[in-house]
Order: sequence, then structure tokens, then C-alpha cells
Amino acid sequence: MRILKPHNVEPLRALCNSNCSSNVKLFDKRFARTLVTSCRAVVLPRFGGPEVLEVRSNVEVPQLKPNEVLVRARAVSINPLDTRMRSGYGRSLFEPLLPLILGRDISGEVAAVGNMVQSLSVGQEVFGALHPTAVRGTYADYAILAEDELTPKPASVTHVEASAIPFAALTAWRALKSTARITEGQRLLVVGGGGAVGFSAIQLAVAAGCHVATTCGGESVDRLLAAGAEQAVDYTAEDVELAIKGKFDAVLDTIGVPETERIGINLLKRGGHYMTLQGEAAYLADKYGVTVGIPLASAILLKKQLQYRYSHGIEYWWTYMRADSDGLDEIRRLSEAGKLKVPVEKTFPITQVREAHEAKDKRLIPGKVVLEVD
Ligand SMILES: NC(=O)c1ccc[n+]([C@@H]2O[C@H](COP(=O)([O-])OP(=O)(O)OC[C@H]3O[C@@H](n4cnc5c(N)ncnc54)[C@H](OP(=O)(O)O)[C@@H]3O)[C@@H](O)[C@H]2O)c1
Repeated sequence: MRILKPHNVEPLRALCNSNCSSNVKLFDKRFARTLVTSCRAVVLPRFGGPEVLEVRSNVEVPQLKPNEVLVRARAVSINPLDTRMRSGYGRSLFEPLLPLILGRDISGEVAAVGNMVQSLSVGQEVFGALHPTAVRGTYADYAILAEDELTPKPASVTHVEASAIPFAALTAWRALKSTARITEGQRLLVVGGGGAVGFSAIQLAVAAGCHVATTCGGESVDRLLAAGAEQAVDYTAEDVELAIKGKFDAVLDTIGVPETERIGINLLKRGGHYMTLQGEAAYLADKYGVTVGIPLASAILLKKQLQYRYSHGIEYWWTYMRADSDGLDEIRRLSEAGKLKVPVEKTFPITQVREAHEAKDKRLIPGKVVLEVD
């Protein structure tokens, strides 16, 4: 962690005085330096149901690397990945690393910066997301993210609202911008536009000047049309194949079951991109071990890519979230302009993380759930 300049002391002092159960020490004003050595965090000691989650105090906070930022969390959202990881998804990778801290998304304030960090300073409000494989997640009073995983939070967006956006929106961004490279005027189909990734994809594509059609549950239709989708088909009431007209340059399939894959691929133009969020690499690694599962996943993906290129003339992808500073900049700009939102259905205090996970597991709450960190 680097020595902070004197002008950074006051925000630090405010953070130190804030109501969190963490071990924060503030040194001499001339050489102010945070030593957040431990803090409260939600720990996953073993895989299982919501009851395995433990809110612990005095969880170690590692020293910052030069490119890292210590963030005092104010809100962290729950992604499907969190509940899946808790249940053992990715165990081939994560089991040797237990105990883990779950959580990818965060909104909060910068508490300290590594000595190579240029773009962020102590006291600044930020939001961002960790990579899917990060071991020390964001369900904590203090989280550590790389500089390029964070961006300034617009003042017009609350911490709760901001925390719901980045992981989902970066997943959508990666698919649309890095994989399909969508451009103005192209046609995009989002299968499952009602969820956080699908809804983000619609808004990003509309902002890029694309024509968007989507499938979703009946309650989501009006919201997706209001966000700029030209057609929103209720998959519970209509035959999607009959209802959707024309062909698309890209299909983002957030559901990724055989039926949605078949429909999505048949609706693509030649040269179009089919992207599913349900890649099989982690599943196969869990089933057969990393040394067999990962090469097997690569072989299956390659086979599908060749098969669909030959049969339909399209490009087939498994797509994954990845941090992207250009993507985060655009996400911040659109959020600030009110053009990119992920509605938050319910918040829980972080101390009620078990209840929040249980509500997601039992599908009691359809939309985004956020944990508030006081
Ligand atoms: N590969 C990656 O890196 C990555 C990253 C993020 C997420 N994911 C995965 O992507 C999926 C979506 O994530 P999310 O954060 O958007 O989840 P989410 O917010 O919980 O959304 C899921 C939505 O899917 C919709 N849905 C369910 N079945 C459908 C169907 N047959 N047709 C159309 N829509 C359907 C539901 O919307 P309605 O209520 O409108 O039906 C539901 O709200 C999850 O499985 C998640 O694990 C993968």
C-alpha cells in the first residue's frame, strides 16, 4: 500500500470514523497510511446451502498490490454466480482455496490505493466488479479490486443502484462489443432480456444504435420495450419462433438450454454470432477434474464451432464476464445519463446474507437483490 498524500487524509479519517467493524489505523498526517488489516466479511468455509455462509469479524485484509484499490463497501449485489459458487459450482478450482469470500459487484468509497494507481483517489465514490474467478470477493466491509475493475460512481446513482450494474453489464459488454462487435444498425436478439445481463445487453445495444428484439416473461415486456427493444416476446405465452420476424446479426442467449440454442441459431444471418452465457468449462472441470474437464470443454466448443460454421455459416461462442476499462467507462456514462439501469427488487443488510441467498435459491424474489453494508 502506498503512502497517501496529506490532502487525502480527511476522507480517510471519515472512513475510519464510520460505523464498521474493522481494524483501521490512521498514522501521522504527513505520512497518512491506512492499515486496514482485518474487517467483517461473509465467509464461505465449505460448499452448501445458505446456512454455510458465516458473517465473521477480523477477516484478514491483504496488503494492496501496486495496481490495487481498497474499497469501503456500501452495497454489493447478488449475482447467480454467487449462489452457484456457494453450492459448489467451480469446486474444481475453488475447493483448494476455501474459505472464500463471495461477491463480484461493489459500490463504495476508495479507502486506500496501491502506489501505481493513477485514476482513483482516497474518498472517491466508485463502483465495479471482480472477475468470476476472484477468491476474495466483495461481501465484506473492505474489498480489493484492480484499478481497471473500478470506475467513479455517478452522484445521481445510489450505491445500491450502482452495485446492481457492473458484473451484468460487463458480461453483456464482453459479448456484444468484444465477441460479436455489434455496430450501429445491426439487429440483435437477446434471449432472456428480463434478467440483469439481458436487460443490460438491450440497453447497451440500443445505445449503440442497434435494433433489438428480446424474449422474456410477461411481467418484463413493458420494461424491455420502454428500454428501447423493438419487440419483446413473452416466451411463456407465445411461440417464439413464430413471433420473432427476420434474421439477426447476433444472438445473446442468457438461458443457454438446447431449445433456446436451436432457436437462436436458426434466427441468425450467415456470418452472425451466437453467444451463450452457459459455457460448459466449469461444469466439465467439476465433473472430470481440471486436467480432463478443461481440454474436454475446449474440444466440445471447437466441435460445435466447426459444426455450426459448416451447417449454418455462423460463429458459435461461450462468452464470459471480463473486466474491461473501456466497457466500464461506457457503463458509467450510460448510467449517469439514466440510459443503463438494473432494477433492484429488494435489499437486505449484509448481516442477513443467508436470508438473501435463501430468497434467491427459492426464487422468492425475481429481480436483483442487493446487500447493504453499513
Ligand atoms: N458466463 C458468464 O460469465 C456469466 C456472467 C453473468 C451471468 N451468467 C449467467 O447468465 C444467466 C443470467 O444471469 P443474470 O445475472 O441476468 O440473471 P438474472 O438477473 O437472475 O436473470 C435471469 C432471467 O432469465 C429469464 N428467463 C428464465 N427462463 C427464460 C426463458 N426460457 N426464456 C427467456 N427468459 C428466461 C427470467 O426473466 P423473466 O422473469 O423475464 O422470465 C430471469 O429474470 C445466469 O444463468 C448466470 O449464471 C453467466
